[in-house]
Order: sequence, then C-alpha cells, then structure tokens
Amino acid sequence: MHNIMVLNSKGGCGKTTIATSLACFFASNGYRTALMDFDPQQSSNRWLKIRSPEQPRIKVIDGVRSMAGVTRSWQLYSGNETEIVVMDTPAGVTGGKLVDLFHKADSILVPVMPSIIDLQAMEVFLGELGRLFKQGRHSKHIGVIVNRVRMRGKSYQAIEELMGKAGLPLVSVLRDSQNYSLAMESGLGISELTSGSSVKDKKHWVPILEWLFQNMPVKQQKLDLVQPSSGRWPSAVA
Ligand SMILES: Nc1ncnc2c1ncn2[C@@H]1O[C@H](COP(=O)(O)OP(=O)(O)OP(=O)(O)O)[C@@H](O)[C@H]1O
Ligand SMILES: [Mg+2]
Repeated sequence: MHNIMVLNSKGGCGKTTIATSLACFFASNGYRTALMDFDPQQSSNRWLKIRSPEQPRIKVIDGVRSMAGVTRSWQLYSGNETEIVVMDTPAGVTGGKLVDLFHKADSILVPVMPSIIDLQAMEVFLGELGRLFKQGRHSKHIGVIVNRVRMRGKSYQAIEELMGKAGLPLVSVLRDSQNYSLAMESGLGISELTSGSSVKDKKHWVPILEWLFQNMPVKQQKLDLVQPSSGRWPSAVA
C-alpha cells in the first residue's frame, strides 16, 4: 500500500482538487483506491457522494469523525486489499497536527499557488515541513505542484527560488482551468473528463504520476505511462 498525502497549511490552494483527481487516476487504472479525508469540511467525502456508481470505485475513509467503540487506528485502516490511499488534509495544519499527518504519508504533494501575497506563509510552511523531512530516518518523498498558473511571472519565479532553498522538487505545474471545477462538481477527476480542452490539463499530470511511481515499490507499479491501456490516460507525455 502507498499513502499519498496532499498537504499545505494554506487554504484554497487545491488540496481537495488534486486529491480527488489523483484518486481517479489510480482507480481508473485498476488500483484499489481509497480516499481518506482529514478535513472537517469533508469536501472530498462530499465529492465522493456525487460520484456516479458507474465510475471506478473509490473507497471513502472518514479521517475526522470518531466512530463509537472503534480505535482511531482501526478507523483509519483502509483494509488489506487497498493499494493506494490518497489523503486530503485541512488548511491550517502546523505543529503537532503536522507531525501527526507527516508520519501517515509515504509521498507528500504540496500544492502552492503563484501568489506574492502567500509567499511568506508558504516559506514558513515549507520550512516546517523541510525540518520534519530532515529529522530521523524515513523513506518519504516530498514534491511541490504549482497550481492555478496563468503565466510564469514574478511570483512563479519566487516559488522556484523558495523551493530551491528548501531543497524540494517541483513536480508539475497545473494551469488555472475551469475543467478542475467542472470535474469537482460532477464527482469526476480530470482524467475522466472527455472534452478536448481537458487534454492539455491531463498532460500536466503525467510528471506527477511518474514522480509518484518513482517513489513506489516496483511491485506496486501497474500503469504503463508510454502505452496507456485506458482511454482515460493522457495520450501523450507532456
Ligand atoms: N488548477 C485549477 N484551476 C482552476 N481552479 C482550480 C484549480 N485548482 C483548484 N481550483 C479551484 O480552487 C478552489 C479551491 O480548491 P480546493 O478546494 O481544491 O482547495 P483546498 O486547498 O482543498 O481548500 P481548503 O484548504 O479550503 O480545503 C476550488 O474552487 C477549485 O475548483
Ligand atoms: Mg480542501
């Protein structure tokens, strides 16, 4: 099992959008996938409720509400059969909460938006995450996705510099596209959209999936990035 967490203390940077689309990529390609929602707002869970039962199944795990008579670890247990767990997290995660979440993940994707206003908060968060990453022995991977990019201006360059300082890789850049809100409100992921305009967006996910696969044990790698078996897979590598 591989645990993929989408994490940033900044609100509204695209955590739920990225977590739900990631879960769809894996589910559509034959992975037994679970989506674990740690956010009290439960946006991922709500998205799953509007998802058609005809779409590839994604199991839901509520990471917030306690179930009577069940231990916390049992509640978060995704089952023996689950191969990929995608974890959506809330905004405002710092300190002990961040440590707790950090230890649950194998791969961590941090969405950041190219905004000069957010830079300082981003620097603090990436610094805190970077310190955790350097502590102790673990085999975790952390990568950054720059999300909602319209043009690669000054704020984009400032993010690149910040990541250079933090020593974190830039995994992909997702453009600002209404396809993401279209997918969210239809219970779909970006890979499940069929419109011509979504082809460009799908291509931006190829480096994200490649990066995740590099971090996974070989026996867990089922997807063939070069010869996609499913029509949902991006038709070319960006
Ligand atoms: N690449 C994108 N292009 C256009 N809109 C986007 C993109 N990514 C996210 N959005 C939109 O931005 C808004 C916030 O996204 P989302 O809910 O995924 O953020 P979040 O980090 O989960 O927020 P919160 O911290 O409140 O949980 C949503 O309306 C979503 O549709
Ligand atoms: Mg969210």
